[in-house]
Amino acid sequence: MFYKLTTKSSFSIVSAISEVIHLTTALDVLSPVGTATYIDTTTLKLLRYYLYGAPFGMEDDDFIYPPDLLGSIDFEKEHIATYDPQLSLPNPGPNLVVRPLRRSDYDKGYMDLLLSALYVRDQGITQQEFEDRFDRMKASGGSYIITVIEDTSTKKIVGNAVLHVELKFLQPSVKRGRLEDIAVLERYRGQQLGKLLMDVTTILCKKVGCFRVSLHCKDKFVPLYQKFGFYIDEPENIMWLDKNYLQS
Ligand SMILES: CC(C)(COP(=O)(O)OP(=O)(O)OC[C@H]1O[C@@H](n2cnc3c(N)ncnc32)[C@H](O)[C@@H]1OP(=O)(O)O)[C@@H](O)C(=O)NCCC(=O)NCCS
Repeated sequence: MFYKLTTKSSFSIVSAISEVIHLTTALDVLSPVGTATYIDTTTLKLLRYYLYGAPFGMEDDDFIYPPDLLGSIDFEKEHIATYDPQLSLPNPGPNLVVRPLRRSDYDKGYMDLLLSALYVRDQGITQQEFEDRFDRMKASGGSYIITVIEDTSTKKIVGNAVLHVELKFLQPSVKRGRLEDIAVLERYRGQQLGKLLMDVTTILCKKVGCFRVSLHCKDKFVPLYQKFGFYIDEPENIMWLDKNYLQS
């Protein structure tokens, strides 16, 4: 099977890498071999390996959302924050890769990151529980846009950002977003990775069609989120339902 490249420029791996990730988002990518430029499935999978750390042969099913959604971001044009030194979605730093959460990420310390960075006082969950929840999240059909950063040299997940998309009836668009669990492993902080995850996730809010997006945060993080266009809506109160009631 062959995929048609979007331009007729002469084929090279370098140009294909930038093109191929856009390519699979379009429905018209499948074409018979003709006069235009094509890429075969094997090469496509190989490129995905380099781009997303996806094992050779792995299909989109292994990701919580299609990696091509990330590939559709033109980071140079769309990024919001400034980076010094330069950092980007395709180049987050040595041995680092930004990609959607994978079902196998339990083995890469995903829960350790969440438990340590988000100061959660519990034991975490088993691999089976993780996989069950992953499957349920994925089955929701785009409600969980979870983006991670992997250090491929240690095979550990070092960053995480969740965009939770809720569906609504009474709004101009059906989707309302919430950003949650923005976390970077302690050893990797201060390297602009939190900013990069926020940048990517903010762009994804727009790409998936959210009409409204919010997050909750401590005072000290307000300046970080303001960089991405978040503002404080003073009169609103966050109210929690008593845990004792829920757990009784
Ligand atoms: C918040 C967090 C993700 C930031 O990650 P990071 O990779 O260290 O952040 P960056 O290096 O990208 O820094 C981005 C900006 O945020 C600011 N920032 C980062 N951590 C901060 C902190 N603890 N307090 C105040 N500002 C902070 C930085 O000064 C930086 O601003 P600059 O670009 O003007 O220099 C990370 O500190 C973390 O995981 N914390 C624990 C989990 C948590 O509390 N998450 C927030 C939930 S609302």
